[in-house]
Amino acid sequence: MDKKPVPTHVGIIMDGNGRWAKAHGVPRVMGHNAGMQSMKKIVIATSNMGIKYLTVYAFSTENWKRSTEEVSGIFNLIVKYVNSELEELDANNVHINIFGQYDMLPKASIDAIDKMVGRLADNEGLVFNIALNYGGRDEILRSVKQLCEDCRNGSRDPEDLTEDDISRYLWSGSANFNVPDPDLIIRTSGEERISNFLTWQSAYSELMFTDTLWPDFTPEEYAEMIDAYADRDRRFGGRKESGTK
Ligand code: FPP
Repeated sequence: MDKKPVPTHVGIIMDGNGRWAKAHGVPRVMGHNAGMQSMKKIVIATSNMGIKYLTVYAFSTENWKRSTEEVSGIFNLIVKYVNSELEELDANNVHINIFGQYDMLPKASIDAIDKMVGRLADNEGLVFNIALNYGGRDEILRSVKQLCEDCRNGSRDPEDLTEDDISRYLWSGSANFNVPDPDLIIRTSGEERISNFLTWQSAYSELMFTDTLWPDFTPEEYAEMIDAYADRDRRFGGRKESGTK
């Protein structure tokens, strides 16, 4: 039997940690901890399925509105994740990029992220992008500001700007990351929104939703979605799959 094609890039909105915690009668941060355990398994499953890029929404620019306890709980989890997973990520040849400006996180989290990104920098397997303090509109705004600056200083001409130029000013398309647009975006927990995730990049992405709360999302359900993706008919605005707009 022919092997079904897998998406090149999958984005995941890991939603439902809070509701999982409520259902189990535990504090919200325990829900995020369970979400992190789920994320660990999905990263390895992504690598094993031969998918080249995975981007997860770990902390949005809007998540600062949550309680200090919850926000610092998520940031502490990053340190915990690096301490417990760095060896396995390296053994699986995973490379990590951060989408978002993370220099306002607590120092322990920044140090853990820098250590992880540095240690895995030469790995050439799965490219695992963590969207952290990330917002799609914020990303576009930052790009527009930089583009305006480049036009003002004469290094760019507004007349010549293309869509690809805009992509290159985003975190994903920047020269050091060079990550293509996501083919598939999955959101767990029954919500059917994109919520400021990869706003520009998701223009032609396939979308899949499941009622499963993120901590309960398994590699088996993930594999079923990847399998279903192969049966989608991607047209990119044209009549047949062309890979271009
Ligand atoms: C959404 O669920 C989830 C988040 C805002 C945080 C996701 C973070 C993790 C899974 C841990 C990430 C860890 C690392 C190391 C990057 P929610 O709280 O909005 O759930 P609710 O809608 O049920 O309240």
